Amino acid sequence: MSRSPSTFPWPATLTTDRLVLRPIEAGDVPAMARLWTDEAVRRHLGGPVDKETLRVREQHCVGARGAFSVTLRTAGAVIGVVQLEPDSRRAGRTEVSYQLLPEHWGFGYGREAVAAAVAWVREATTSSEGSEEVVAVTQEANARSRRLLESIGMEQTETFVEWGAAQVLYSAGDPRA
Ligand SMILES: CC(C)(COP(=O)(O)OP(=O)(O)OC[C@H]1O[C@@H](n2cnc3c(N)ncnc32)[C@H](O)[C@@H]1OP(=O)(O)O)[C@@H](O)C(=O)NCCC(=O)NCCS
Repeated sequence: MSRSPSTFPWPATLTTDRLVLRPIEAGDVPAMARLWTDEAVRRHLGGPVDKETLRVREQHCVGARGAFSVTLRTAGAVIGVVQLEPDSRRAGRTEVSYQLLPEHWGFGYGREAVAAAVAWVREATTSSEGSEEVVAVTQEANARSRRLLESIGMEQTETFVEWGAAQVLYSAGDPRA
């Protein structure tokens, strides 16, 4: 199936029971910097980014297409990020990635945020051809991430080695399935 990539509208704001997902604002940059440099967050993502990468990311993250700050509805605090990007491995698919600050793990915020983003992008890309496939790639060893994806109904469709580690690709809406 051929379809133009990343046809979702931007900017967008999504609201769930406990969260608001909205474009990254300037005041969110310190929280984003923590996500990129925290040892626990980066454990299965190649480790903390180096200083130059951090500087470039800090400069370009505000308002970046498809990058949602995940915030608590009650306090407004930034607890993480969910990102929707064109899949670099195969055209026409969207890849979702997600990171929460460690003090916010264990409350179900990750699955709530990722489920909302996946449902939204599928809805926003619905056409006569169906909805755009959304995939997530996670290290096989990343048990928390895999539980999250399985809990929202995404299905494992491929395994491969990338960056020297075993990876699992999960899909929502594989048109070949
Ligand atoms: C991946 C990541 C977001 C998962 O965090 P998490 O806290 O395990 O996942 P969730 O936010 O969905 O929370 C689920 C946990 O909260 C618990 N929980 C508590 N209250 C809950 C509620 N109201 N609803 C749902 N789950 C709840 C669940 O039981 C579950 O715990 P368990 O897995 O120990 O059973 C987090 O580990 C992370 O940011 N990792 C670093 C970045 C990363 O590796 N990203 C993946 C690749 S892109």
